[in-house]
Amino acid sequence: MSYPYQIKNIEQYHRDYTRSIDDPSEFWSSVAEHFTWKKKWDEVLNWNFKEPKIEWFKGAKLNITENCLDRHLEKLGDTPALIWEPNDPDEHHRILTYKKLYEKVCQFSHVLKNNGVKKGDRVCIYMGMIPELAIAVLACARVGAIHSVVFGGFSAQSIADRLYDAQAEFIVTCDGAYRGQKDIPLKSVIDDALIGNRIVKKVIVTTRTRTPVSMIKGRDVWWEDEIKKVETLGLTDFPAEEMDAEDPLFILYTSGSTGKPKGVVHSCAGYMLFTTYTFVNVFQYKQGDIHFCTADIGWITGHSYILYGPLSAGATTLMFEGVPTWPDAGRFWNIIDKFKVNILYTAPTAIRSLMGFGLGPVHGHDLSSLKVLGTVGEPINEEAWHWYDEHIGKKKCPIVDTWWQTETGGILISNLAGITPSKPSYATLPLPGVHPILVDENGKEVEGNNVSGNLCIKSPWPSTIRTTYDDHERCRTNYFATYPELYFTGDGALRDENGFYRITGRVDDVLNVSGHRIGTAEVENAINMHANVVESAVVGYPHDIKGQGIYAFVIYQGSHAQNTHGTAEMIRKDIHQTVTRIIGAIAKPDKIQFVSGLPKTRSGKIMRRILRKIAEGETENLGDTSTLLDPGVVEEIKNGKL
Ligand code: WT7
Repeated sequence: MSYPYQIKNIEQYHRDYTRSIDDPSEFWSSVAEHFTWKKKWDEVLNWNFKEPKIEWFKGAKLNITENCLDRHLEKLGDTPALIWEPNDPDEHHRILTYKKLYEKVCQFSHVLKNNGVKKGDRVCIYMGMIPELAIAVLACARVGAIHSVVFGGFSAQSIADRLYDAQAEFIVTCDGAYRGQKDIPLKSVIDDALIGNRIVKKVIVTTRTRTPVSMIKGRDVWWEDEIKKVETLGLTDFPAEEMDAEDPLFILYTSGSTGKPKGVVHSCAGYMLFTTYTFVNVFQYKQGDIHFCTADIGWITGHSYILYGPLSAGATTLMFEGVPTWPDAGRFWNIIDKFKVNILYTAPTAIRSLMGFGLGPVHGHDLSSLKVLGTVGEPINEEAWHWYDEHIGKKKCPIVDTWWQTETGGILISNLAGITPSKPSYATLPLPGVHPILVDENGKEVEGNNVSGNLCIKSPWPSTIRTTYDDHERCRTNYFATYPELYFTGDGALRDENGFYRITGRVDDVLNVSGHRIGTAEVENAINMHANVVESAVVGYPHDIKGQGIYAFVIYQGSHAQNTHGTAEMIRKDIHQTVTRIIGAIAKPDKIQFVSGLPKTRSGKIMRRILRKIAEGETENLGDTSTLLDPGVVEEIKNGKL
């Protein structure tokens, strides 16, 4: 495949950028020409940020899987679409060519249909990183069902909440998943999530670990049995459902500063266009390159840059089941050597954790196939950036620092590999079609360079969040109401003398722990579920490897932790257990400090600013504490800091 919209030099970047801002409809329709449509659009763009209403390519008909699969069959049928590397390096890897992946997706589309899945139905997918996960996602898209992938690290309670919110009637899962030394019994977590659930009709279970599972008659079916039925009938094709450009493609739950996670909704055409466009341009993908994105498909990075973007571009995408440190900390380098990977896309937290093992695990692996390196998920510190550059890229691979969010669907700010300049810890310049601005607390635009502010986007790009599932008002208040007529990202940023953006981190109550997004309110709610906890306050603090760690201040029963229920250490473990049950192990606080009170204003609001400073190790300049109800509590908290 060739990419007529691939940017070839910096002059073209500036030209395309200007064109895209001056006339977005002209720009994006010229990109859209290079996709497969069942029917072309009536109107390219119709929008207002007030409601918000965002419609791209209204009236067009398509199916994203025809773009990811069917259109490649003729020329790339025998080219690897998906390379799968198992958790255990001694187990054989799998390669699915475009033809093979097409057949598998079609077969599983029949399975979905045979089990009652129709266009618009919500299908929850809870699986490990195996090819069947990719197949399930694409098959949902093919039949027009809305997939909602839930990361394998979330607890039964989290799944139950998401199933309920999405009113999902179907689940696709596995018996278990391998992650490093661990076997995670996914089906048994699903069984717990389904206690009391009256909505789910069918659970399709594939075999991976052959962990014993309970299969309930009438509800649970085996993936393999269902496929057999389809095979017996000799069905290898499945006509792709005709979708409207604006029909929802998927829901992906993500944390915010308040309440339970919200279901971010992306729609078919705009998401397809923008993920493909950004994949081809940011990584400068060339036909035949092997692209290795280390994210889990349970997060947006996996959706956009393991599956949809690369496959729509006819790329070869590598999917890895395991973890970077097992059986040793050289696993990524081993995979790069084994498959001659050309593009590596990973998270700063992974780089920092691997840095900690020294250069030993890097040596002995041939990394010369690498051409482009990428990072995503959190700000990258300069030390990690230079280590990545020197020891992995051997100073010959451009590093793209890609800033984006679940809500943005694809990369909004990033350098383009080898085309536009990089600068350590800077995401640099916006992609064509993206109009970032900085505003002060009052929403007034901060103009010029060498300035900082809250990062907003002025107009829609094709994969802008469309709504939050079943609650459009929540979408409006979260993203479009803080500053009128702007999409607010929740991030702070600065713009240097060249107009390059540096993302400085969240300015709301959202934490970024190892690249995972966690709301402080969510963790507090989980901690408060513990019977003896009176109140808690959670803030982030700088953590060498995770980027941010979770610091919890907890009022436990009557003021202190040394009581009849055991030592402070025991109680901390109980709290961990509670959080693991309510959210998942990823949300366990790194530090729990027992306190007798929390710094509150007279109106009862917790002053997190003060707690944040204490957690960060600041003791002197805590700012104005005169409005506190009981300033004495601050001294106690400071003295008890962990
Ligand atoms: C938040 C979004 C986008 C995929 C993974 C995370 C932070 C993301 C960068 C970057 C600095 C970054 C932001 C953003 N973030 N990429 N390159 N530099 N910060 O998706 O879970 O939706 O989180 O991650 O704070 O708002 P997410």
